[in-house]
Amino acid sequence: MGFAARTTTIVAALLATTACATAQSAPVERAAPAAAQAAASTGTVPIQPAQPAWAARDAEMDRFLDELIGKMTLEEKVGQLTLLTSDWESTGPTMRDSYQEDIRAGKVGNIFNAYTAGYTRDLQKLAVENTRLKIPLMFGYDVIHGHRTIFPISLGEAASWDMEAVEKSARVSAQEASAEGIHWTFSPMVDIARDARWGRISEGAGEDVYLGSRVAKARVEGYQGDDLAATDTVLATVKHFVGYGAAQAGRDYHTVDISERTLRDVYLPPFKAAIDAGVGSIMTAFNEYDGVPASGSKYLLTDVLRDQWGFDGFVVTDYTSINEMVAHGYAKDLEQAGEQALDAGVDMDLQGAVFLEHLGDSIAKGRVTMDQVDTATRRVLEMKYRLGLFEDPYRYADEARQEATLYKPEFLEAARDVARKSMVLLKNEGDTLPIVAGAQSIALIGPLADSKPDMIGSWAAAGDRQTRPVTVLEGLKARAGRGVRVEYAKGASYEFADASKTDGFAEALEVANRSDVIVAVMGEKWDMTGEAASRTSLDLPGNQQALLERLVATGKPVVLVMMSGRPNSIIWAEENVSAILHAWYPGTQGGHAVADVLFGDYNPSGKLPVTFPVNVGQAPIYYDMKNTGRPIELGAPGAKYVSRYLNTPNAPLYRFGYGLSYTDFAYSPVSLSAPSMGAGGSITASATITNTGKRAGAEVAQLYVRDLVGSVTRPVQELKGFEKVMLQPGESRTVTFTLRPEDLAFTRQDMSHGWEPGEFRLWIAPSSGADASTPVTFTITE
Ligand code: BGC
Repeated sequence: MGFAARTTTIVAALLATTACATAQSAPVERAAPAAAQAAASTGTVPIQPAQPAWAARDAEMDRFLDELIGKMTLEEKVGQLTLLTSDWESTGPTMRDSYQEDIRAGKVGNIFNAYTAGYTRDLQKLAVENTRLKIPLMFGYDVIHGHRTIFPISLGEAASWDMEAVEKSARVSAQEASAEGIHWTFSPMVDIARDARWGRISEGAGEDVYLGSRVAKARVEGYQGDDLAATDTVLATVKHFVGYGAAQAGRDYHTVDISERTLRDVYLPPFKAAIDAGVGSIMTAFNEYDGVPASGSKYLLTDVLRDQWGFDGFVVTDYTSINEMVAHGYAKDLEQAGEQALDAGVDMDLQGAVFLEHLGDSIAKGRVTMDQVDTATRRVLEMKYRLGLFEDPYRYADEARQEATLYKPEFLEAARDVARKSMVLLKNEGDTLPIVAGAQSIALIGPLADSKPDMIGSWAAAGDRQTRPVTVLEGLKARAGRGVRVEYAKGASYEFADASKTDGFAEALEVANRSDVIVAVMGEKWDMTGEAASRTSLDLPGNQQALLERLVATGKPVVLVMMSGRPNSIIWAEENVSAILHAWYPGTQGGHAVADVLFGDYNPSGKLPVTFPVNVGQAPIYYDMKNTGRPIELGAPGAKYVSRYLNTPNAPLYRFGYGLSYTDFAYSPVSLSAPSMGAGGSITASATITNTGKRAGAEVAQLYVRDLVGSVTRPVQELKGFEKVMLQPGESRTVTFTLRPEDLAFTRQDMSHGWEPGEFRLWIAPSSGADASTPVTFTITE
């Protein structure tokens, strides 16, 4: 039995949930010093359970489901708890090849990696026309950053800091995916990622809790719209619950060992934000938390998710993660793993077929109850009902709609717009960019300059990698029509094995030498980030660095366009090239978007959602670190016995929130509405941003706060708000942020969630750690 204390009030539940809570362990009480207890006794902020509109009780649905479940055999119920891949694609090991047989036999109620109106209708028919109870299938798919029309990778979208753009991308994804028969996407991925070695850093919104939570909400709202039953929305899945981004040494699937406090303050909030936004399903993670694999953690899946947060949707595992509990050393065999998973709170087994093959025995042996099976079955069937599948199982399978929907011109335009909004200008010495009319010829060099497959990055759903994507060469040629010559040479390779080759260099240098400006498009191959794509080096792979150095040696201005799904260590480029634009993997229209930015048709406005380290040795690195007892500022330059490296500065190459524009912005001092606030109160902080340059541009003003003293140590800065403002040359706008004590809540020493009275520093700035604005102080009173 798990946590004994199933308290009804949320506050009590929070106080009761201490570290080490697992299916087997007893709660451990933590004594907090008296002073901390006193501080913590005020300002407790209860965690509100989510109340999405779709979760409203529906008496007719309840009657329908009671009757249906009443008729179902155990095997039919287990079928609803099973999700298998079709043979179209696979993102992991395939456990059963007989999925069509399984559908006919009612052994599988959900399929993923199958799409198109025609194919999903055929499979749906197998279920509806062959099974006794005619329960429709639910079709899931990894629609992560676009379905057919591919948007920038998720990390790139987050770099736009533009929640309308992020929501739009999810909306278009839902429209295209649902037109191809898909009901359900395995997105958004909201794992906080602070280690650039981890390949899946590309799939989330980066390192920050606040930005990550805002992006999570925007994505859920974009996918689900305000009506789950509408045929152009899809059910969303927030994943991977939880802590997956903390894989040790950045190695995918590796052990996670984080404190309960870090879990609560850093890794959980984006999930809560998605749930508050109404997400209908949640996917477990591959990793363990506190020694228990996430798919077997009753603490995570029941105590936190259901009891504290009031989550009403269903829980699906990650790919074969129930099976993997055996390899983790948590279950002795698959049968036990299935029991542990169901008992923990898993409703659906993704691809592992553990429920399918073993739950019957577990029931027979009395190790799980029919009530547990019924609860999970009801959660899955409820979602099918709410999607409207019982009304019409074929409602999403409509060829005419499919034909009219995919690659709509407005979708392609949206993809281009989000792509240019996602790009981050990292350096622009002497206004090298935008490329001015005076440049008669451009040398376009590099393995990513004309590579269609790379443009759309990893997890590109049904995106066409071979023909649709517009490369940078195509984009520049289309734009440069006005008398500019664009000459291309691949020059280098990103393949690890080609590190010492130089065979393409001569041609690239010839082209470079006869051009006015060199645009080098370099970075990583599309599958060097994403799942199972961790690296121990963040350097440019292959022989790209060597060619870049030769290009710079020509003395011509070199613009580096980076395509990559992670922060790379490009300090040499920062010190030697003229301009750097980070373009992520920009999607189907990426080449046009790069051209828009390089030629100044669009003024870049992206800001980094992750810190870029100087080198891999700084990883993990993130902006909201703790000060430590020996911060480097305490010592003279080079001093010993302070927290520093001997050979690398502590400061990153590029800070979180950093990004340049073709214009300049000035920040006024911050003004506060009041010097203090108390319980129930709020203050506003304002600053005026002025475009002091010559071009229109958008700036992301960022609000940072530092809680100076806490019952536990606090980060040196935390993002608490941001606003993107568009300004004409000479124009000023005042940005105003409202802060309440609740916005400054954290997990206090006694593990309660709340704020503490005391002094805070606040500033509004163009990036983290920036000193464009002098901090002001305010207090929260007792
Ligand atoms: C990934 C998930 C994905 C699932 C289904 C897993 O390997 O971790 O993110 O949704 O496969 O394709």
